[in-house]
Amino acid sequence: MNERKVALITAASGAGIGSAIARQLAEDGYDVVITDAHERRCREFAEQLSKEHGRPFMAVPLDVSNAQAVEQCVAKVVAEKGRIDALVNNAGWSTIASVVDLALKDWQRCLDIDLTGTFLTMHHILPSMIAQGGGSIVNISSIAAYETSAEHGAAYSAAKAGVLALTRVAAAENGKHGIRVNAITPGLIYNDFLRKIYPDEFFSGYAENRSLVGRVGRPEDVAALVSFLLSDKAGYITGEVYGVSGGVHPHG
Ligand SMILES: NC(=O)c1ccc[n+]([C@@H]2O[C@H](COP(=O)([O-])OP(=O)(O)OC[C@H]3O[C@@H](n4cnc5c(N)ncnc54)[C@H](O)[C@@H]3O)[C@@H](O)[C@H]2O)c1
Repeated sequence: MNERKVALITAASGAGIGSAIARQLAEDGYDVVITDAHERRCREFAEQLSKEHGRPFMAVPLDVSNAQAVEQCVAKVVAEKGRIDALVNNAGWSTIASVVDLALKDWQRCLDIDLTGTFLTMHHILPSMIAQGGGSIVNISSIAAYETSAEHGAAYSAAKAGVLALTRVAAAENGKHGIRVNAITPGLIYNDFLRKIYPDEFFSGYAENRSLVGRVGRPEDVAALVSFLLSDKAGYITGEVYGVSGGVHPHG
């Protein structure tokens, strides 16, 4: 039986938040299971993390919108590790198009990955958390869930708002089992992929005009909060939503 707590992270091998969470949780001592739709990067990142920490990390390629694949992934991890103590739903996809212009297939893809993917992992992992008497889940949403803005696209904003509702219901249903479920709404978090999409002025403008701390977010800013929310220090916190947006979109 595994002596370390086991954490499964979706979309864990990209350039941004997911891989920073994986690094942070490995640092915290978790046995981290790296999953990602990109098969090669998933394996390579798990190998890299293994080298950095001198202990093996499991890689399971996983597209969270594939219901059967999620079920098989969870079964494989539980069979091999014996338990899953922590789940971080980080997978997200978006296309920026208005309600008028958005193609139905893009609307569907966004909901499938961002919202249904979050449902599917919880649907399959919660039974094992209930059986073992506890666990903790963090779902990565976005300030797009609240903002009166066209800049995130209709599908993404709707899906990420759905993640917040799903988080609250899952928390309400599972508190009695010792399971806590919370969500994080990041603002702009820099990564090299976004750098390819947006011009420099986008980042400098956000840092100067919107962020209250004079910079855009770093993946590590989100990872630090995930680490806390998953930990026993957050034992009285469930069904909550926390922003990591440099004050761009506080709520409450
Ligand atoms: N970067 C931001 O500014 C920002 C802001 C608010 C919220 N978020 C949310 O944070 C999360 C992480 O975003 P990020 O920009 O840091 O990217 P990231 O680097 O953490 O994630 C990108 C990874 O997602 C994987 N992926 C894509 N579709 C997938 C699927 N169907 N199943 C599994 N993996 C899949 C890709 O292979 C890639 O490796 C997302 O949910 C995103 O919506 C990001």
